[in-house]
Amino acid sequence: MILETQPARGSLQGELTPPGDKSISHRAVIFSCLAEGRSSVTGLLQSEDVKATVNACRQLGMGVSREDETLVLEGVGGAGLSRPAAPLDMGNSGTAMRLLAGVLAAQPFETVLIGDESLSRRPMTRIVKPLSLMGARIETADGGTPPLKIIGNDRLRGIEYRSPIASAQVKSCLLLAGLYASGHTTVTEPLKSRDHTEKMLPAFGVDLFGGCGVTGGSRLKAAAVHVPADISSAAFFLVAAALVPGSDLLLRNVGLNETRDGVIHVMQAMGADLAITGRREQGGEAVGDIRVRYAGRLRGVDIPVERVPSMIDELPVILALAAVAEGTTRLRGAEELRVKESDRLAVMAGGLSELGVSLQEYPDGMDILGGAIGAGQVDGAGDHRCAMSFAVLGQVASAQMRVAGAENIDTSFPSFVQELSRVGGSVSVVDGGSEK
Ligand code: S3P
Repeated sequence: MILETQPARGSLQGELTPPGDKSISHRAVIFSCLAEGRSSVTGLLQSEDVKATVNACRQLGMGVSREDETLVLEGVGGAGLSRPAAPLDMGNSGTAMRLLAGVLAAQPFETVLIGDESLSRRPMTRIVKPLSLMGARIETADGGTPPLKIIGNDRLRGIEYRSPIASAQVKSCLLLAGLYASGHTTVTEPLKSRDHTEKMLPAFGVDLFGGCGVTGGSRLKAAAVHVPADISSAAFFLVAAALVPGSDLLLRNVGLNETRDGVIHVMQAMGADLAITGRREQGGEAVGDIRVRYAGRLRGVDIPVERVPSMIDELPVILALAAVAEGTTRLRGAEELRVKESDRLAVMAGGLSELGVSLQEYPDGMDILGGAIGAGQVDGAGDHRCAMSFAVLGQVASAQMRVAGAENIDTSFPSFVQELSRVGGSVSVVDGGSEK
């Protein structure tokens, strides 16, 4: 799919509720599948990634129905999963594959997990290694990538795992496996990654200890989950309004979990005008409304390394913002971006260079000297977040821009083009064909 943008004709104005949080949606579905009884989920993200998780859980025995805006999920209970008749296809979703691998490693049957071209390149050793220490048996392709053949072993042992990387997927995978293992399972990490698993498990009746530990044999009970809007999707609109003169947008009901809010802190440090109102708690998660108003040209900053995990998915759009800011923005400690849906440092550096931005790429980050944005064609490389970041930047480019490789926007934000157009942005789909 190719997107075409034009420099925005006026300012961006209005209100929107971004789609449901992707991380919370995956967890709501998986935990509901493992729970005994009928769970209900409102605000679930309706996107390709979450569909992959729903379909996989359905193949494992979960019942799915809809009552108005609520998804009703009939859990099978921890021991009630059935052996799927075919490989489970996780599509583009690393979260779906890594979290479900934790559950499936502990089952008394074999499962195969497959994914699309991008997911098939992503590292799985980070979960296979600790799961193996727990007694799991998992085969990967050469290089530790999918497909995963999970042989299944219902006698896993608990583990005290010190993860070398801050990864909520690794942490959640091990906590899920730990629910089935003997004894206790704890995970520590160098910097705190998103904690939605830790926040949601208690709602399903599982007590954690020491912040990030579970006891084997804990059972999940059905729950009602309300999914807030995704700050990672909101970020495209925060940046768009900060870029386009005169803009004033209100983003409603956005998740403000402090392990996810790095984008707000960094944009404020750059001089952006962001005001949060109506802060409240919803199902253990902080939510609120964010008003963003154009505040003139922003300033480049050094992004604190310790903030990186709390804005890991927002870094592509922050790099786009940095391309217009005054002075230099420095990002380091972000080597994880190289193993996301694409090598996001390479893809962003490639596209920004195409647009005439001065930058220097490093193994774990980038220095960007802000300036004027040119025009032309850039490649989102099939990565939803890079494609949307370029489309946002297109609102302040010197002329028409094309963003190729934008087909995977549907994995996280299917209504992105319509929503950006609705608030006054200039973006359209010129070629709907798959670029895969
Ligand atoms: C996610 C964790 C992060 C993030 C991803 C979603 C999750 O990945 O980038 O989009 O839902 O747990 P890592 O665990 O690899 O950091």
